[in-house]
Amino acid sequence: MTFNNPIDRRGTQSSKWDKMEQLYGVSPKDGLAMWTADSDFSTAPCVIDAVRQAADHGVFGYSWMHPEYLNAIQWWMKTRHDWEIDSDWILTSQGLGNAIALCLDVWSEPGDGVVIFPPVYHEFANKVNKAGRRVVECPLVREGNSYALDLDDAQSRLDGSEKVLLWCSPQNPSGRVWTADELRAVADFARRNGLILVADEIHHDLVYPGNTFVPMDVAAPDARPWTVTLTAASKTFNIAGQRTGNMIIPDTKLRADMRQRQISLDYDPSALGVAMITAAYSPEGAKWVDEQIAHLDANRKLFDAAIADIPGLWSMPLQATYLAWVDFSGTGMDHAEFVKRLRDDARIATSSGPGFGSGGETFERFNLATQHARVEEACKRLKAAFGDLQ
Ligand SMILES: Cc1ncc(COP(=O)(O)O)c(C=O)c1O
Repeated sequence: MTFNNPIDRRGTQSSKWDKMEQLYGVSPKDGLAMWTADSDFSTAPCVIDAVRQAADHGVFGYSWMHPEYLNAIQWWMKTRHDWEIDSDWILTSQGLGNAIALCLDVWSEPGDGVVIFPPVYHEFANKVNKAGRRVVECPLVREGNSYALDLDDAQSRLDGSEKVLLWCSPQNPSGRVWTADELRAVADFARRNGLILVADEIHHDLVYPGNTFVPMDVAAPDARPWTVTLTAASKTFNIAGQRTGNMIIPDTKLRADMRQRQISLDYDPSALGVAMITAAYSPEGAKWVDEQIAHLDANRKLFDAAIADIPGLWSMPLQATYLAWVDFSGTGMDHAEFVKRLRDDARIATSSGPGFGSGGETFERFNLATQHARVEEACKRLKAAFGDLQ
């Protein structure tokens, strides 16, 4: 089974492994990298073949968003997400971090408020701050084993100076898959407050059995005049290093505004990124993704069972994503204390919970997109590092 092939990424210029010591004080010699969101798998064979063909050809000249690329994206959205998109709606970006930054640039000014629903992907707040905009946190509320929206509370936190809403679906770090009704409520909230709704759907493909992801544009097509959807093959196929993502913008005026900004920045997509995505969004790619989901499903079950066996630790049941959200509040330790145990005793590098904003204070995020053996090893180490808390 390919997803369990042992792969050593150390010394391959992988930021997840080769920058771990510098960033976390966990040496790759004996440490486990479970932080940044890329996978330890090689990508789908059809994607590797496309890169091989390009290498064999040996010419890496200019390319463009050619019809095969646009058709592949349309095919994928239709077959995997029951979402009909027009090829005209598609713009590329240099990954979705870049797309988020561009959206802030185009649809807000320095000092404007940007609404986020924490705990949420830490780069939302980072990008808002770096762009000189103002983070407006509207925290999710814990409801049973998951998070829910409180849009009345959110409304009370706005002062009218907000311009953009950054929305994460499925949600990183909780793995929550939003319902169509929830999505419509968010779209309506954006409308009432005059916000451009940026729906970041980068994790849309890695959804576990029993859950159905609904694209914002399918749930709320009426919201097109104020909605931009961000998608990418990067998490799904582990090709984030190619830095190629998509912005799907049905509204002519919004799309023209974004395209104009990209022209002024002289942005064009990477030929190799385009070739890889064209190959990925195919029946062969789809089959590989289904196999990956089964592998990740087994990993998360293994991980959750082990965490449930350690008093004081609790893992949020994932509906999507390979990112486990673990609550350490039951240990009675503060964040520095449990992270010290993770670093010094378990030798695991994880993503810092407080970085995800309000609600993340007692959490850490663990990346489970790796071989079963590594998840088992992580579980063993966690048990040893926190096993004294009976
Ligand atoms: C929700 C979300 N958006 C965007 C990104 C970044 O995407 P990219 O690597 O394409 O910049 C990530 C990466 O973890 C993510 O989780």
